[in-house]
Amino acid sequence: MSPTLETAHFLLRPPVMDDAGNIATYLNDFAVSGNLARVPFPYRRIDAEAWLKTRRPGLPPAETNFAIDLPGEGCVGVVGFHQGVNGTILGYWLARPFWGRGIMTEAAGAALDWLFEATDTQTVLSGVFHFNTASMKVQEKLGFTVTGRSSLLCLARGVEVEHIDTQLTRGAWKAGKR
Ligand SMILES: CC(C)(COP(=O)(O)OP(=O)(O)OC[C@H]1O[C@@H](n2cnc3c(N)ncnc32)[C@H](O)[C@@H]1OP(=O)(O)O)[C@@H](O)C(=O)NCCC(=O)NCCS
Repeated sequence: MSPTLETAHFLLRPPVMDDAGNIATYLNDFAVSGNLARVPFPYRRIDAEAWLKTRRPGLPPAETNFAIDLPGEGCVGVVGFHQGVNGTILGYWLARPFWGRGIMTEAAGAALDWLFEATDTQTVLSGVFHFNTASMKVQEKLGFTVTGRSSLLCLARGVEVEHIDTQLTRGAWKAGKR
């Protein structure tokens, strides 16, 4: 089970089955799913329930996801990690009504602090589809740098999309804390 982290404005806590309604509502928005690799569109409640069932206790840090729990709103997004072939990958999404308030910078920053402190992970991988300026900005603010370009299937679009690959090294993360 992922831990619960308290940030200045919200909680990052383990996703639970009661989040299915919020997740289904907020991910059934092409402006969100169209920026993600592994989320289908349309997105239904059974999709949310199927994903939540995979969030079983005892997953390793590199497979940990946090619900972003905003006071009075419940789960408004998810930030977390999954293990890719080349390393641990950071992913995240936030419901559209809450964009532009610094929420994801705070959430992803807290999740990265937790991962680097709880493990000996040296590098976290991420990236954005080439048109995702807001997400690129979030990653730049967190210290990620561009490592290259690739092509990645976007499930919601049903096509391969040009992807800007990024990484955050432990050194860059530490430097950002000074
Ligand atoms: C990308 C996303 C997570 C950003 O969340 P957020 O909480 O709004 O992000 P923040 O407010 O912390 O930071 C966004 C930054 O991008 C900037 N920004 C937003 N839209 C922008 C645009 N079109 N062009 C340039 N900068 C933009 C904001 O000004 C802000 O930077 P600032 O703090 O210097 O002003 C959210 O929009 C989202 O979930 N989108 C859909 C899913 C997605 O893209 N997930 C990431 C996949 S890689």
